[in-house]
Amino acid sequence: MKYKYLDEINSTNSYCKTNIDVLADKSVVYTSKQSGGRGRFNRVWIDLGSENIFLSIVLKPSESLLPVFSNLTQYTALKLAEVFSDWGVSPNIKWPNDILISGKKISGILAETVLKENKLKGIIIGVGLNLNANEKDFVQVDKLVTALNIELAHKIDKEKFLKQFIEKFFEGYENFLNEGFISIKNEYEKYIDFIGKDITINNLNEKVSGIVEKITNDGAIVINGEKFFTGDII
Ligand code: BTN
Repeated sequence: MKYKYLDEINSTNSYCKTNIDVLADKSVVYTSKQSGGRGRFNRVWIDLGSENIFLSIVLKPSESLLPVFSNLTQYTALKLAEVFSDWGVSPNIKWPNDILISGKKISGILAETVLKENKLKGIIIGVGLNLNANEKDFVQVDKLVTALNIELAHKIDKEKFLKQFIEKFFEGYENFLNEGFISIKNEYEKYIDFIGKDITINNLNEKVSGIVEKITNDGAIVINGEKFFTGDII
């Protein structure tokens, strides 16, 4: 893997999209200042200061990548949850891929595909990590959020966290590409708490409510007998 640090950028995901042809497979682009961070469903990702991390991982297509494409964010969420656990907090994955600590969001993932002339050029996995934030800045964000420095009551070495996460990500990556979601299902389930619970999801602007029966071997959740791969728990 190859790291590229940018002092400031509008969005590391947008940077990777623009520069997809020159960025190698497994490049990690990160910054301390992001002026136009983007989240899922056209939301914004607010910059909570330069001691946080905004990063994107560039993955170039291969035959083994495509079948697990829809599970890549779940894989990423699991690896993040493992690193947060190593730091001594108890993370929870809010399906499919937000990381929460005691119900407050600490990290979000935005996966995007890059297509040129109908050809898949790459997949960008963008990750926003609240590592060192000031509680007074949380008023800018329209949901409950936290940061690792607040949870642990000390400053976080952000470079150390970044390296741990990237190493963990690529340690299991080839195996995940070959084996798929089933290879991480047991571990992923340790970090979710909604199986058997009555929830509502927003799926393509349609609300679906019901008890979550299970998570399938291919990473979907089953509600009222129906499988859902994307959406948002509301
Ligand atoms: C979400 O929770 O909605 C996803 C947030 C993803 C934010 C990260 S920050 C680095 C990368 N660049 C972006 O513009 N977005 C992602």
